[in-house]
Amino acid sequence: MIGLNKIKTAVFISGTGTNLKKLYKFSLTRISPIEIDLVISSDKNAKGLMFSKKKKINTKVFNFKKRIIIENKILKYLNKKKIKLICLAGFMKILSRNFIRKFKGKIINIHPSLLPKYKGLNTHQRAIKNNEKFSGCTIHFVSHKLDSGKIILQKKVKIYKQDTPKSLAKRILKVEHKLYPKAIIKLYC
Ligand code: GRF
Repeated sequence: MIGLNKIKTAVFISGTGTNLKKLYKFSLTRISPIEIDLVISSDKNAKGLMFSKKKKINTKVFNFKKRIIIENKILKYLNKKKIKLICLAGFMKILSRNFIRKFKGKIINIHPSLLPKYKGLNTHQRAIKNNEKFSGCTIHFVSHKLDSGKIILQKKVKIYKQDTPKSLAKRILKVEHKLYPKAIIKLYC
């Protein structure tokens, strides 16, 4: 895809931003259908913001405590910047039904489990506690029901006997980094 008509994308983060880094790297490749024009963070101390500023990506921090007011501000800003796709990447806030509807359902998320199993938090701990043989990660459309939108792509990751939530999270994160770009290619190429 030549740079002129790439899909203007915003990445929403709350923390480390390792998925953001991989998405940014992918966005610079010729095969990428997206360009990352904006990073929005729910936390002013998110490490992903430092990366974004270093790469001169436009960044905004919003305090999601006043969700309705903030969401309307964000929607206005997204429209002003002609953003067409939102990628949630380690984003820890819940977007309202109104926001999701207003953004024409063009919001995708990465979740560290094999959905529909283990929606919500502490997915690795719960999978290990339940003696699951596999876990994994899933890229899905964001709907008004938490971690329940249409699945785009997912990848299984074997759970070893000696795994801790930390060791499993580390291994799944590596798979997430490869899966997110693949899901975008599946959607738009
Ligand atoms: C990842 O496990 C992701 O699946 C979850 O948040 C974690 C941190 O992501 N949503 P990142 O390093 O901030 O991209």
